[in-house]
Amino acid sequence: MKYTEKRFETAAIHHGYCTKEHLGSLAVPIFQTSTFTFDTAEQGEARFAGQEEGFIYSRLANPTVRALEEKMAYLEEGEAALAFSSGMAAVSAVLVALTKANDHMICSQGVYGCTFGLLQLMKQKYEIDHDFCPMETEEQIRQLIRPETVCIYVETPINPTMKLIDLEMVVKVAKEHGITVVVDNTFCSPYLQRPLLFGCDVVIHSATKYIGGHGDVIAGIAVGTKELMAEIAKTTQKDIGGVLSPFDAWLLLRGVKTLAVRMDRHCDNAEKIVERLKQHPAVANVYYPNAPDHCSYSIYKKQMKRGGGLISFEVKGTKEEAQRLLNGLRLIHIAVSLGDTETLIQHPATMTHAVVPEKARMEMGISDSLLRLSVGLEAWEDIWSDLEQALNQL
Ligand SMILES: Cc1ncc(COP(=O)(O)O)c(C=O)c1O
Repeated sequence: MKYTEKRFETAAIHHGYCTKEHLGSLAVPIFQTSTFTFDTAEQGEARFAGQEEGFIYSRLANPTVRALEEKMAYLEEGEAALAFSSGMAAVSAVLVALTKANDHMICSQGVYGCTFGLLQLMKQKYEIDHDFCPMETEEQIRQLIRPETVCIYVETPINPTMKLIDLEMVVKVAKEHGITVVVDNTFCSPYLQRPLLFGCDVVIHSATKYIGGHGDVIAGIAVGTKELMAEIAKTTQKDIGGVLSPFDAWLLLRGVKTLAVRMDRHCDNAEKIVERLKQHPAVANVYYPNAPDHCSYSIYKKQMKRGGGLISFEVKGTKEEAQRLLNGLRLIHIAVSLGDTETLIQHPATMTHAVVPEKARMEMGISDSLLRLSVGLEAWEDIWSDLEQALNQL
């Protein structure tokens, strides 16, 4: 932890906003405007030339969105952040900015489905190639590096198997070759893991998840150096245009104030559910990073603060038993998002990973009986009693 001015919990509430500059308004005002007026023609000219600070047009920058960006940069311990209209807008703006035709990327084996789709699209349309890599050893990564490799793209924990990738190890190899490391930190939020502290270059979030935290907004964030964020702001963000609306920025500012409190509760609840799932006779395997029997436990100890709110588990049986469990639930919702106040459960083989060919899916460890649970903020006893009664019916 390096925070210089304020601790995480305090910065999540106060950083990047001054009430005195806004008539004492405690909450950040929503600047619901498309454009900003100039006092004179000369002022407009100076703003466009970058000679004068100030707002021009909300696709380029907006004060409500700016407050969110400043807070997120601080929480991730980065120099600058950009906010986007979705996690995928952030992923695509970053990857398109970092690459050109004939470049190559190395990606963790198991990336979010639409990121997988984007990688295919970049390959087919722009000849930007990629390889997937388990990233368990330096050697596995080194073998895939080519002179054209410009980016290593990592998701950790990997969805939905919850395996972890050692960020320090990835950075070590990447730096030997001047390769940029991008990490999708959606599953952890900066409260549980801060990849920039391990030397990674860019952090991305689907802010739709833990950052927003209430299941009512679609948004994305990218954090990195001032130089790279400025480059993205004036190219793939401005010209492709997937910017965040002021109201959605306000929802995220509201959500992020309670991020630390929510994350601890997600983790407390998840730990309780993991213990009980492991003992239930209808459950075959449970995958959660903060468990000494987890395959990535040593990496967990090094780079995550706590285990997070996501648990994957296999029921004994196959797809039929997995679906019967979902259909037997009364409180927990069947839905594919995560990080919300409500506990959500999904069946990766037929939902988030349905597009992945069966062989590749099996290699990724996604069996037909695997379920992913996003543990919410309800009383853990109620979450467990719902799961237990559904498991007892199998
Ligand atoms: C790990 C991860 N990255 C990126 C995304 C894309 O985010 P969004 O749905 O906000 O575009 C998701 C969405 O589920 C995700 O889980």
